[in-house]
Amino acid sequence: MCGIVGYIGKQKASPILINGLLRLEYRGYDSAGIATIEQNGITIMKDKGRVANLYELDGINNLTGTVGIAHTRWATHGKPSKENSHPHMDNSNSFAVVHNGIIENYHELRSFLESKGYSFYSDTDTETIPNLIHYYYEKDLEASDNKFLAAVKKACDDLKGSFAIEVLCKDDPEHMVVVRQDSPLVIGKGMGENYISSDIPAILSFTKDFYLLNDREFAYLSKDKIQFYNNDLKLIVKEVKSIEWNAASAEKDGYDDFMLKEIYEQPVAIRETIGAKLNEKKIVFDDFSLSKEYLKTIQKIYIIACGTAMHAGLGTRNTFEQLCNIPVEVEVASEFRYKNPLVSEKTLCIFISQSGETADTIAALKLAKSKGARTIAISNVIGSSITREADYCIYTHAGPEIAVASTKAYTSQLTLLNILAIYFAELLETSEENILTELKQELLNLPKKVELALKDVASIKSFADMVYKESDMFFLGRGIDYAVALEASLKLKEISYIHSDAYAAGELKHGPIALIENGVTVISIMTNPDLVEKTISNVQEVITRGAKTLIVTNQPIEDKRFDQVIHIPETSTLLSPILSIIPLQLFSYYISKEKGLDVDKPRNLAKSVTVE
Ligand code: AGP
Ligand code: GLU
Repeated sequence: MCGIVGYIGKQKASPILINGLLRLEYRGYDSAGIATIEQNGITIMKDKGRVANLYELDGINNLTGTVGIAHTRWATHGKPSKENSHPHMDNSNSFAVVHNGIIENYHELRSFLESKGYSFYSDTDTETIPNLIHYYYEKDLEASDNKFLAAVKKACDDLKGSFAIEVLCKDDPEHMVVVRQDSPLVIGKGMGENYISSDIPAILSFTKDFYLLNDREFAYLSKDKIQFYNNDLKLIVKEVKSIEWNAASAEKDGYDDFMLKEIYEQPVAIRETIGAKLNEKKIVFDDFSLSKEYLKTIQKIYIIACGTAMHAGLGTRNTFEQLCNIPVEVEVASEFRYKNPLVSEKTLCIFISQSGETADTIAALKLAKSKGARTIAISNVIGSSITREADYCIYTHAGPEIAVASTKAYTSQLTLLNILAIYFAELLETSEENILTELKQELLNLPKKVELALKDVASIKSFADMVYKESDMFFLGRGIDYAVALEASLKLKEISYIHSDAYAAGELKHGPIALIENGVTVISIMTNPDLVEKTISNVQEVITRGAKTLIVTNQPIEDKRFDQVIHIPETSTLLSPILSIIPLQLFSYYISKEKGLDVDKPRNLAKSVTVE
């Protein structure tokens, strides 16, 4: 999920590749590398850490090749290290590959290749790709007139998951093959030279003319020619698009702000977080497992985090309790660390942190460990501090989150925690199989449903236009909808500076209703069919006192009493936060825009809070 750059032309490739990688640095990454075709074959230079470190590598200035590929890695499989950095080669050093994305079936592919005598030198999913290409190149492609392209195509047929890849071939040094599936890749057209990148900004200073590759389209490039093929390797014609963006808007893929881009990245983030974990078999995590015997000893689960990450805990507490029959407490890390919590070896503590660097969460984790609890960290950043402290760690695969206001990390955390709860329930046998199967299917349906929820922007915008000048707003919900109300309220506060509060809808009459008067905005979330009528009664109470109302629901509510009703797709009640937060993220975003504020960098806030 990080960056790719490629060059094929008449100039020395390495400076162009490194320059391109530097322009992708804003995305966050953990290692970098390049490969060029030299007189004596393919040469790779790579290391963990900053792109600038590449300048220090021995021999980098001696590279003269005019064809090369480059990568910044945001590790998903295997820790950040030189061995795991890209590019990766096959065993015979004939093919070099850089890859963004995740190969979900890499275990199977690796075993298959091992059975054919291939060895592996990294922990990545990626290393299977060059070896698979080599396998097909050597195997049965004698008849093909373009063996290189045919081997890449054959290998891609075996890959499950997401990928944008660039491939170099020692025997075909004047060409490169690129292809994508659910990960971005564009080709920049020059004069006697061509550029490739995952993101337009990396190569925007070299060309404004781009070909946008669709899923499973292949490009076979030389310096003067680009041939495009469909998935059946039939030649296709693609049109050049001229991009008028400046470098700043290009970093955001044309979106006005990172937050908006990240809101729209949620279907992909959820899909990547699910990865290959859900199928007809029991859930297996790549690098994490607990025994049934151990889980049976657990009397309480604590979920501990800050801010939005803590809200992800609140949004999934019910899943753990209902499926696993274990009581769950969700606690703010800064409280937990100072309260002498009741924790023992019979407590399992789950810590959630997008950045993995939040000081309060790390301190809480150390405390829980010192009291004998086992600890699981859920983070979006491989190798971050929290993942090094915890007994176990599991990753969300949301990709770098740049806007201070967390969006795609939150929905990815919700997704992963639900999967974890199902995993526990399968081990403990505390839920009926058909309930778990249905929930897994619903999780798999989520990316598509999130796409649908992202469609109704007009109604959200029009309500935002109506209320953006207000100074107080209320968010209401019952049960799991209350957890979403808390997150929606935090989002609004952070980026719009409007004061807002979230209440369990039934609590309104116990005090806050005194604040409701003409014009106050009340936003209600209603996704549980059993509770809809109750919440509607609460909303009726605020309408009577003059409130403007917005409803977010997956129920068939069409009521003229409300100022706006936003419909989201139906799903299991346990998963509903992943959908109901979507219009409310957009709502905060458009309020902030109406007010002319800096959406991505709200005042007084930092992306990662490493102080107490
Ligand atoms: C989210 O929009 C906030 N910026 C903030 O609440 C954040 O979720 C919190 O600081 C925790 O961060 P972490 O997930 O990196 O630990
Ligand atoms: N899954 C690959 C890895 O972990 C690629 C990660 C990326 O997209 O940067 O090496």
